[in-house]
Amino acid sequence: MTQRLVIAIDGPSASGKGTLAKRLAAHFGLPHLDTGMLYRAVGWIAAQTGEPPAKVAARLTLADLADPHLRSDEAGQEGSKVAVMPEVRANLLKFQKEFSSQGSGAVLDGRDIGTVICPDAPVKLFVTASPEARAVRRYQELRGRGVDTIKPRVLAEMAERDRRDSERAAAPLRAAPDAWLLDTSEMDADAAFAAALAFIERKGFRS
Ligand code: DC
Repeated sequence: MTQRLVIAIDGPSASGKGTLAKRLAAHFGLPHLDTGMLYRAVGWIAAQTGEPPAKVAARLTLADLADPHLRSDEAGQEGSKVAVMPEVRANLLKFQKEFSSQGSGAVLDGRDIGTVICPDAPVKLFVTASPEARAVRRYQELRGRGVDTIKPRVLAEMAERDRRDSERAAAPLRAAPDAWLLDTSEMDADAAFAAALAFIERKGFRS
């Protein structure tokens, strides 16, 4: 029997993990879940409706992730706030576990995939980049979408979110001990994909 391929990708925002996850999923023909969208959706819906975030998390479905506004920085901040709540994390666990258990495998990216959601994943990547490189990417992405901002503000907001994500008690951003570290500071998306693919193929997985 061929081994199921679950690829767990963690790292801070704008490290390149989302792009990498999408490309690996396409390459191996696996479904992809951007788990940050779950927290964004919970935070955003709770802020709009006044419902308790844990309750929103308990009834979240894939259809709730379709709102384009969830990609905004505002939704990212709301997501980061509810991500510190242990009940929210607990209520999103089943959804993520089920997603990773289907078919021949899956690609999930987030902050706690290799440590909490898929501790037995055969492939774990921890994607990082320097704060400066990440801020430049984020700035370019925002400007590309027509958002009027300045680099120091992007850097400050990113530092605030990094701090909240790494210092929280519940499942903080941390590399699993068996994760492979990929620093993309000096890499474009093609180079990051090539490096990750070579690592996965060395482990015996082929598309
Ligand atoms: O990756 P992102 O910016 O879309 O994530 C939004 C917020 O959700 C982020 O501040 C941290 C949180 N998050 C988390 O706590 N655990 C995950 N697996 C994914 C995201």
